[in-house]
Amino acid sequence: MAAFTELVFSGVQPTGNLHLGNYLGAVKRFVEMQERDAQCLYCVVDMHAITVWQDPEALRGQIREVTAAFLAAGIDPKRAIVFNQSQVPQHAELAWIFNCVARLGWLNRMTQFKEKAGKDRENASIGLYDYPVLMAADILAYRATHVPVGEDQKQHLELTRDIAQKFNTDFSGSIAAHGHGEAFFPMTEPLIGGPAARVMSLRDGSKKMSKSDPSDNARINLTDEADTIAQKIRRAKTDSEPLPSEIAGLKERPEADNLVGIYAALAGITREEVLRDFGGAQFSTFKPALADLAVASLAPIAGEMRRLTADPGHIDAVLADGAGRAETIAAQTLDAVKDIVGFVRRSPNLQAVR
Ligand code: AMP
Ligand code: TRP
Repeated sequence: MAAFTELVFSGVQPTGNLHLGNYLGAVKRFVEMQERDAQCLYCVVDMHAITVWQDPEALRGQIREVTAAFLAAGIDPKRAIVFNQSQVPQHAELAWIFNCVARLGWLNRMTQFKEKAGKDRENASIGLYDYPVLMAADILAYRATHVPVGEDQKQHLELTRDIAQKFNTDFSGSIAAHGHGEAFFPMTEPLIGGPAARVMSLRDGSKKMSKSDPSDNARINLTDEADTIAQKIRRAKTDSEPLPSEIAGLKERPEADNLVGIYAALAGITREEVLRDFGGAQFSTFKPALADLAVASLAPIAGEMRRLTADPGHIDAVLADGAGRAETIAAQTLDAVKDIVGFVRRSPNLQAVR
């Protein structure tokens, strides 16, 4: 298999209510990936957002807000490439080609579509159904090797690999003939893990924390003030037992497990280490400690987000710069893909025909 240089890609939808799950499962880990010696691209996936209805004025604000969250959390737009998807046309172009590679049967298995479409499937947008193909195009337009995401994206990453594999096989002759060796697209590795790969609702330990939960108390928003954060943690649902001292004792206690996982992720330690410190403690002791930790970690991000969103001109400049750099990479991929597929490309050297 061809050697691919390490390249990290991930995306977040600008659909409002960015929360602690998005931060711990994704954005915080994007920041950590910067320390690896790899090119990182972090994309605000606005074309994914419109697979369900978005108010246009609100959408514009949400795109800037997610960008602000990236920067406030510590992503450095000089080192990483920060941009919004719709500014780089190659995502949509590659998605079309992948539409002709991916099979209906593969998309029919996608659980996120089933959840989001609900009972009224006939009325879901075609974009919602095709969502995972666009996601594969996002990743493979850069031939990304690593994708940090939360647990809920696992199936979409598997589909991305299936599309890459089928493209590599279907076009193997053409890929070799154009000098790309045996494989044009890498088998992208999902990076899912840590204690907060799936942060659960604060009101119901069996549901994941989500942007669309009707109860605002179910999630901690990245824009919440310090006292709101503390209050939501104080009111979080728990059982009445003290914390166990062994990890096995968290089994069948989803709410306790969730709070311990959140503490571990915020502190950068393991669940075991949290239980070493808090095993035997009541929630009346643990919750205030967790609230202090959450406020100390999140309040500075919220403050920085407010400062950044007050200057949309600066955010738009960051996005424009990122889009330019992203397009340079994606355009090379698309030129190669068009040659491989057998399209005739517009040559820059052609004279105008009169
Ligand atoms: P989305 O808001 O759906 O665009 O998700 C952005 C990122 O946050 C993706 O990598 C998701 O997997 C991750 N994510 C969303 N919800 C959670 C959660 N409750 N726990 C952990 N990660 C999450
Ligand atoms: N589907 C992802 C989510 O909802 C967002 C996303 C779109 C993404 N394109 C991506 C994540 C590419 C990683 C890589 O969370």
